[in-house]
Amino acid sequence: MELPKRAGNGPVAVALEAGKNYAWCACGLSQSQPLCDGKHRGTGMSPDVFTAENTETKYLCACKATGNQPFCDGSHK
Ligand code: FES
Repeated sequence: MELPKRAGNGPVAVALEAGKNYAWCACGLSQSQPLCDGKHRGTGMSPDVFTAENTETKYLCACKATGNQPFCDGSHK
């Protein structure tokens, strides 16, 4: 499996809606960071699909080094 590509140097704020599904880009190739746009095809990687628990703004990882995906854990530093 390839390593994910670093897609940014800090998290991206995303306004999540409770009960809605989101696909966080795990490969780093998406042009719609931090969410998947299908460019992972052929990499062996796949997005992390999650359901928002609350309607709130969350900081999603763009560096792809987080240990708490899809959320930023400060690993970009
Ligand atoms: Fe990166 Fe889908 S484009 S996981």
